[in-house]
Amino acid sequence: MPDNNIETSSMPSAIEWTNGELFLLDQTVLPHQVVMQKQQCAKDIWQSIKVLKVRGAPAIGVAAAFGLCISVKDKRDLNLDEFKALTVETADYLNSSRPTAVNLSWAMNRMVKHMQGAKATSSAELYDILVAEAEKIHKEDCALSYGMGEMGAPLIKDGMGIMTHCNAGSLATSVLGTATAPMYLAHKNGIKFKVFSNETRPLLQGARLTSWELGKAGIDVTLLTDNMSAHMMATGHIDMVIVGTDRVAANGDVANKIGTLGVAILAKHYGIPFYVACPSSTIDLNTKCGDDIPIEERSADEITTIMGQRIAPEGVQTRSPAFDVTPNELVTGLITETEIITAPYGEGIKNFFKGKTYD
Ligand code: MRU
Repeated sequence: MPDNNIETSSMPSAIEWTNGELFLLDQTVLPHQVVMQKQQCAKDIWQSIKVLKVRGAPAIGVAAAFGLCISVKDKRDLNLDEFKALTVETADYLNSSRPTAVNLSWAMNRMVKHMQGAKATSSAELYDILVAEAEKIHKEDCALSYGMGEMGAPLIKDGMGIMTHCNAGSLATSVLGTATAPMYLAHKNGIKFKVFSNETRPLLQGARLTSWELGKAGIDVTLLTDNMSAHMMATGHIDMVIVGTDRVAANGDVANKIGTLGVAILAKHYGIPFYVACPSSTIDLNTKCGDDIPIEERSADEITTIMGQRIAPEGVQTRSPAFDVTPNELVTGLITETEIITAPYGEGIKNFFKGKTYD
């Protein structure tokens, strides 16, 4: 990991793997309570992903990789074939918890593929191999954040106002975040800038998570409701947008939290650069374009209530798409861990993966 000296010890950690046990920070109760919850079985982990105790594309992938290990940990007395079959079945089950963030299926496929290719003489040995792979995914995820930080930080100049949407922060990854990694690095380098964090209805990741973690780090952060974006851009407060992503298609179309598309359209209108921070683990070469990205529909309660308080009449009809797709022509650049990819994206993404193994 590059030594760029960012102080991370006070940053909240979404995932902790300690002595073969998995703890997840319950993000549904942040910022009022900071609670690490021990995950005991596959059902726990599935549920934690489903209800967004752990959320954010990279964090979901890492949590599921460790979660797979926890789920099969007590089954090491099975014979090798039975243990492998159970692992494959559990990976499929965990993969069914949320559809949009490709990091989940990416991590599950990688774990299963690694297990299938491993030479082990016992299930206990295979378990250790799975743990080592999950630890590798976790470590790599840290390095990806640092890489995006180094690529993106030079874009941030003194006096800038930067809008972000949802939480693509340290809470959504193993460390430093994706969209926030350039911010943490620029802040560490003494650049003075302001972050405008959209609250992100319905589940308020911007209000509860982004403003909390950036504030804790001493970054100048201002909370906005989602409908303030146009006004803030029109009145000259925003010089750049940086968001994260749940899946980037092979043509550069970007799925991210619902509301991102609106921000991108506004940014285009006002001539404001719109960047997407995306680690290679979030680029899906198997998805041709945005139309092929599965968009999660969530429950009506999340629309008719705010933090458990009902705000809409009983029986009202709702829709709850959790993500939207920003077409590549609205994207100024994809900030990856090694380069900023610009249009034409199909070609840029293909070149980015040249010579690399794509899991
Ligand atoms: O529903 P969530 O909270 O999991 O949605 C998260 C996002 O949309 C993030 O912007 C995205 O996963 C990138 S996280 C580095």
